[in-house]
Order: sequence, then C-alpha cells, then structure tokens
Amino acid sequence: MQIPLINVHDHACAAQAALSPAAWAYFSGGAADELTLRRNDAAWEQWGLRPRVLQDLRAGHTRCQMLGKSWPMPLLVAPMAYQRWAHPDGESGMALAAAAQSCGFVLSHQTSTPLQDVAAWVAAEAMRGPLWFQLYWQARRDDLCALVQAAESAGYEALVLTVDAPVQGVRDRERRHDLTLPAGVRAVHGARASHEPVPGLCSGVLHRAPTWPDVHWLRQQTRLPILLKGITHSDDARQALDAGVAGIVVSNHGGRVLDTVPATAELLPEIAKLVRNDYPQATLLVDGGIRRGTDLFKALAMGAHAALIGRPAIYGLAHGGARGVAQVLRQLRDEFEMALALCGCPTPDAAHSGYLQKLSPLR
Ligand code: FNR
Ligand code: LAC
Repeated sequence: MQIPLINVHDHACAAQAALSPAAWAYFSGGAADELTLRRNDAAWEQWGLRPRVLQDLRAGHTRCQMLGKSWPMPLLVAPMAYQRWAHPDGESGMALAAAAQSCGFVLSHQTSTPLQDVAAWVAAEAMRGPLWFQLYWQARRDDLCALVQAAESAGYEALVLTVDAPVQGVRDRERRHDLTLPAGVRAVHGARASHEPVPGLCSGVLHRAPTWPDVHWLRQQTRLPILLKGITHSDDARQALDAGVAGIVVSNHGGRVLDTVPATAELLPEIAKLVRNDYPQATLLVDGGIRRGTDLFKALAMGAHAALIGRPAIYGLAHGGARGVAQVLRQLRDEFEMALALCGCPTPDAAHSGYLQKLSPLR
C-alpha cells in the first residue's frame, strides 16, 4: 500500500527516496552548519496563534494584492535553479502546477528550461498567480539587457533581482558529493556557476558584484517593476525602496548562502513595520521555512503581502513531477484557508499582529 503524503515532511521523505544523494544534498541542503536553514523552520514555531471566535466569515476569500494587482493566493513558488535535475517536468511542470493551484511562480535565472517555453505553458492561464523572472547580476551589461528584454517579451510581469548571493556560500553538504549536473541539464540562460568553489574571492568575483548604482541602472533598462530579493536589514529595505524598487523579499536564501543569519520570521516584524508605515505602496514578501498554512498566516499577520516556498515545491516535483507540486500547493492552500477560518480572519489583508503571540521556550 502506498503511504499517503499529507504534509511537507512526507513530501520531503518521498523526495529523498527519489533523488540521488548528490541531488538531495543540493536541493535540501544549506550553508556551513545549516544553523540558518534549521532556524528558518523553527522560528515560525516560536509564534503562537491567538484566534478570535464567532467572527462573520461569509465574505472570506484568499485574494491578495501584489505590485498593485489582485491575485488569488498569497503564495508563490520561489526561484530555484536546475529544476530538470529534480524531475524531467522541470520548470514547466513547476509553473504549470503553480498556475493550476492559483499560486505565483518565479523562474530562476539558473533555469534549466528556456524562459520562453515556461511562459508559453502558463502565461494564458486565467486563474494563475504572478509570473516573475529572477535575475543574478551579470558581468556584461549587454547580456543582462538581452535577458531582461527576453523576459519582458515572453510575458514575465516583474524582475526579482537577487542581492544576497554575490558569491556562493560555504556548502559543506554539497562538497561531500560530486555535483556534476546530469547530461542535458544546464543553466540555459547562463549565470554564475552556483556550485563551483570560488577561488581567490577578492581578486575575481567581487569586482563584478552589483552595488546600489546598478539597481538604479537596471530600473532604467526595463518597464517591469523590480523587487530585490535577499533583504535582511531594515536599513537595506529603506535604501531599496528609496531607490524606487517596487518591492522587497525578506529572505536569507533559505539558509544557503551566509550561515548564522537570523531566521526570516525573526527579521520580518521589524522590516514590515518600516515598510508598512513609510512605504505603503511597496510590496513586501518573505520566504524561508514556510512549511504549513499556519506559517503563511503568521507571515501575513507580521505584515507580508505574500510568501514564497522553495524546498517544499522542489520536494513535490522530485517525487511526483507537476502532480507532486500541485499536491504540495493544494495542501498548503487548504491549510492556509483553515488557518484563516479558525483564526476568525476573513481575508489575507485582515491578518495583523493581534493574531500572534511570541511564545517563551518551554523548559
Ligand atoms: C534556491 N534559491 C534561489 N534563489 C534565487 O534567487 N535564485 C536561485 O536560482 C535559487 N536557487 C535555489 C535552489 C534551491 C535548490 C533552493 C532550495 C533554493 C533560494 C529560494 O529562492 C528561496 O529563497 C528559499 O528556498 C526559501 O526557503 P525555503 O522555502 O526553501 O525554506
Ligand atoms: C542556489 C543558487 C542557485 O541557492 O541560488 O543554489
């Protein structure tokens, strides 16, 4: 008898069984001692929910606002590299499952499927969520401009510039394996080679790392809104929004780059306070360790407009292709709707910090 997969933990176990040890190390692992990776998950548990009873929920829904538009669900699949390494359905299957479940999809710069092919699968889906393209800074501005234009023409609706990984993190778990990509899987639009050790950091890579003036430059190159992904400091949030970006993603890259950065659930309240008070038009997103519908509800109660999930979606893809991703998203959607109903909160934008209580550790 097949064991039913009913939560993200179950999907993780099925994914581990389906993937090679090297692929499992790449997709599930984090940087160094994986303190941030573990803390991301655990930090949502340090907040308790304070439900309100007997509320009128008849006008309830899950719609939310992102970048000035209304969308069916406050949940997106985060950009992740090399999805065809996890399963032949790859990025197209992932995007299709996200669209079918009314969730958003952010295609990684390090996609193993051409951005045009992915957009062709989903752009016309009526009930889909946002379709965005993630960028890593490129040494050659011409390459970056060409890619931005390709993403615009293909129908992507925003650019997500990832700013927390100018270099690769120290990935102990990956270094114990041979991370050679399988034949036929590669980053089709180029990018920094994510899992190669970086020799002589200061002499090489860092002079190509982007700085604030590059964000200004990128804004001039595109009509699409730009979000910065990888903000963990409220001063950077302010600088980003003063620079005219449309939104930010509070993220520590799922604990894959700099170990010992605090969990995003610990960072979000401070940043959300700043953004919601001083930049009411800005879109605020968060990712890292969201594994339950209640985690998503907590993110919104802290002030995010929506959240992204990374590994849970990859786990679904790895063991079940597009169908596996759809299962994971469906389960999270159902859990989220139950969290709204059981907290007595009719809609995502009605969530607020009054539904949360910081828990003291149990001895
Ligand atoms: C990532 N992430 C990532 N981020 C990004 O901006 N560009 C990328 O290409 C990738 N690639 C990538 C690969 C894999 C295998 C993982 C797990 C993650 C980070 C990702 O977008 C997101 O920030 C985290 O995954 C969120 O944390 P959780 O949900 O995985 O805990
Ligand atoms: C990673 C890179 C691709 O996290 O962002 O593996």
